[in-house]
Amino acid sequence: MTERRFAKITGWGKYVPAKVLTNADLEKMVDTSDEWITSRTGIKERHIRAEGENSSDMSVKSAMPALEMAGLTPQDLDLIIVACSSPDYLVPGVATIVQDKLGAKCGAFQIAAGCAGWVYALATASQFIQSGSMRNILVIGTEIISMGIDYTDRTTCVLFGDASASVVLQATDKPAGVLAYELGSDGSGAKSLYVPAAGTVLPVAANIDKIIENKLSYLHMDGPEVFKFATRVLSSSMKRVLDKAGLLADDIQLFIPHQANYRIIETAARMMRQPMDKFMVNIQKYGNTSAASVPLALVEAFEEGRCKAGDKVLMCAFGAGLTWASAIVQLGEAKAEEESVAESWISGGRAMYMAKRAMNRVQDSVQNFMLNWKIRQVEAARRRKQERQSSN
Ligand code: UT7
Repeated sequence: MTERRFAKITGWGKYVPAKVLTNADLEKMVDTSDEWITSRTGIKERHIRAEGENSSDMSVKSAMPALEMAGLTPQDLDLIIVACSSPDYLVPGVATIVQDKLGAKCGAFQIAAGCAGWVYALATASQFIQSGSMRNILVIGTEIISMGIDYTDRTTCVLFGDASASVVLQATDKPAGVLAYELGSDGSGAKSLYVPAAGTVLPVAANIDKIIENKLSYLHMDGPEVFKFATRVLSSSMKRVLDKAGLLADDIQLFIPHQANYRIIETAARMMRQPMDKFMVNIQKYGNTSAASVPLALVEAFEEGRCKAGDKVLMCAFGAGLTWASAIVQLGEAKAEEESVAESWISGGRAMYMAKRAMNRVQDSVQNFMLNWKIRQVEAARRRKQERQSSN
């Protein structure tokens, strides 16, 4: 019989630039207030890269402590994946530059799946290890979102920050690592959150005046539209991945959601019927760091003792694409062999799981109905307001 392989998290590290941009600073730059930003998003401050600091530099700074913790050198790596939508250059991807700066000798590629990128990268790395083809993989999430932000646009400039976080995955034969994952995409929402210029649609050289005049090299976001998508997808994706793993929300010790908006996280906690203290939140310190958001929250959860070996954590991210991704990860190694399905039927465990899941489904339908009703109310109010404004 072939030995089963699992991808265990054996090291982690983070890097955030020293420069801090507070809500008070932003009050001086645009027509906003600490009260608005805090109550609408939960953000108090965010970190901004130093002059000349690039995504590859930040990636190396978060990767080194992760490698050291795992007891590896860069030469031991079989692969480097960097989730990043703000690379050093449009071409090549940032991962090869990271590989060179680390002095690693392995393959390296970048995943650009918006804020969901790092969870995509984690699932991808896990598959390489589980297939038996690789043993040691570095999975980095890095963003310098500030480079694409228009600091005169109050609807986006208060939200984002720069950061990097890394995790090392290593092969083991004990149950560990990614137990289940879901990757999702809905490209019909591509223009809800995008940078219009510099791709093939609007090449820079031929459109330079138009790009500058209309600020098309900056991030454009339809905040309310993304908010609607995010409130629906965060809990629904987490529920689907729980089903895939045959687990209930109560089996999860810590939820690590993408840090885009405190209100989105609160809604997810309500929809999961789980207390807020089971949700990792560090948005107040960093804002939305896109692909670095979930790994940064994971690293801080380890540092703060919010999670430990033996725990199951559920991570979920969503963003530009529109994309989303969820993964349930067993930290350390599983305490004991999981009961077989037959044994668990005999002990009643499986029957109990099925009964609880059926009850959850009923509660879910009521809550989904309420959420959709609330979203329709908000949309109707927004339409009425727009009509009033256009008739004035
Ligand atoms: O990681 C990628 C995923 N991104 C997200 O998940 C972001 C999702 N969206 C959001 O988090 C929220 O939509 C925002 C935080 C971006 C905006 O919050 P909102 O409650 O949806 O506000 P809104 O866009 O409906 O704007 C309400 C009002 C507007 O003013 P009027 O028209 O009512 O006079 C905005 O102009 O708030 C105004 N506003 C601001 N006021 C002060 C928008 N931004 C600001 C600001 N300061 N920074």
